[in-house]
Amino acid sequence: MSERRVLLIVGGGVAAYKALELARLFRKAGVGVRPILTAAGAEFVTPLSLAALCEDKVYQDLFSLTDEAQMGHIELSRSADLIVVSPATADLMAKAAAGLAGDLASTTLLATDKPVLMAPAMNVRMWLHPATQRNLARLKADGVAFVGPDEGAMACGEFGPGRMAEPDAIFEAAMARLGGPAGPLAGKHVLITAGPTAEPIDPVRVITNRSSGKQGYAIAGALAALGARVTLVSGPVALAAPPGVTRIDVETAVEMLAACKSALPADAAVCVAAVADWRADEVFKVKMKKSHEGPPTIRLVENPDILATLSARGAKRPKLVVGFAAETSDLEAQAKAKLKKKGCDWIVANDVSADGIMGGDENEVLLVDPQGTDRWPRASKTEIARRLAQRIAEDLA
Ligand code: CTP
Repeated sequence: MSERRVLLIVGGGVAAYKALELARLFRKAGVGVRPILTAAGAEFVTPLSLAALCEDKVYQDLFSLTDEAQMGHIELSRSADLIVVSPATADLMAKAAAGLAGDLASTTLLATDKPVLMAPAMNVRMWLHPATQRNLARLKADGVAFVGPDEGAMACGEFGPGRMAEPDAIFEAAMARLGGPAGPLAGKHVLITAGPTAEPIDPVRVITNRSSGKQGYAIAGALAALGARVTLVSGPVALAAPPGVTRIDVETAVEMLAACKSALPADAAVCVAAVADWRADEVFKVKMKKSHEGPPTIRLVENPDILATLSARGAKRPKLVVGFAAETSDLEAQAKAKLKKKGCDWIVANDVSADGIMGGDENEVLLVDPQGTDRWPRASKTEIARRLAQRIAEDLA
């Protein structure tokens, strides 16, 4: 891990402060970070804080005699395994798309032969402007990878796409691309189920639930960032697959089980999906209509239990099987009962009646295994995912 290096280009935008957190995450993971700060970037973060967090000298000037004497800009552009541009402003994207080389950041992007990952950040109108979208398409065609932008409230007071991805997400996208002597889960295959299932009643109606898929996707990303080969079997959600993760889309529980079985063997399986317990016994071929006889009766049959199936003893049982328990009361007792009932090794239990958990960005969980219960403090779903991925890595080591 320690040999891997990132060249971090920090452009000018309010999101530049997040580059400091990103640098910290890289250093914590043992990745070297060499920073380039644009003139506009230096209006938002100081070279001193960037140097402190990167634990390296900050490069700012294309025509610095001392810098050129120590390391020419061509050499600088190739001194890392990956270039990360965070924030990638509209201006930096335009320069890179056009192949301009008027300053150190754009010259570096033109001179490099290394992969480039950009995390765009700009006002929503600037992002949606045809010129930026043209530059985005051009850069993608040139092989540049992107993470974000996210949608949400922006510092400029507007709402929409343009907010820079969170440092966690940029870090994971970068780690998945760094390759090389990968993390502690290198060579391991992990199977994950996530999201809801949707069980059809007729061509237009389904039985489903409110699962957003966020926790499962975050776990998939965190495991990939530790070097695992990750297969994510996902119900319908509005999320993009984390970088480096193989996603298999399914709709129903029956399809989810079939996809999981064909993804085996795996070293570990993590069942995060909110699988519908029941499906309609009969799926109507045409849309059901209102009639004088009143509402129809839908007979339900039980769906297969994917977690219990994967946990069952057999040659293909993953060494570690982790289930989730979404409860609204008696969390620990329910989790212990579920551990036994399903035959899995760990249960991650959360109280979904708590505010902001279901569909939200935070979670508060208990990790229950036959030895006991570990209570984790409330944290972001990405932080919970990172912690769980770390525990899985320790267990499989
Ligand atoms: N699960 C599964 N397949 C199912 C139902 C659940 O793989 N058909 C998995 C979930 O992914 C989760 C765990 O089982 O990891 C617990 O799911 P939950 O819905 O809480 O448990 P149920 O078995 O449905 O129990 P109950 O609804 O009675 O609480």
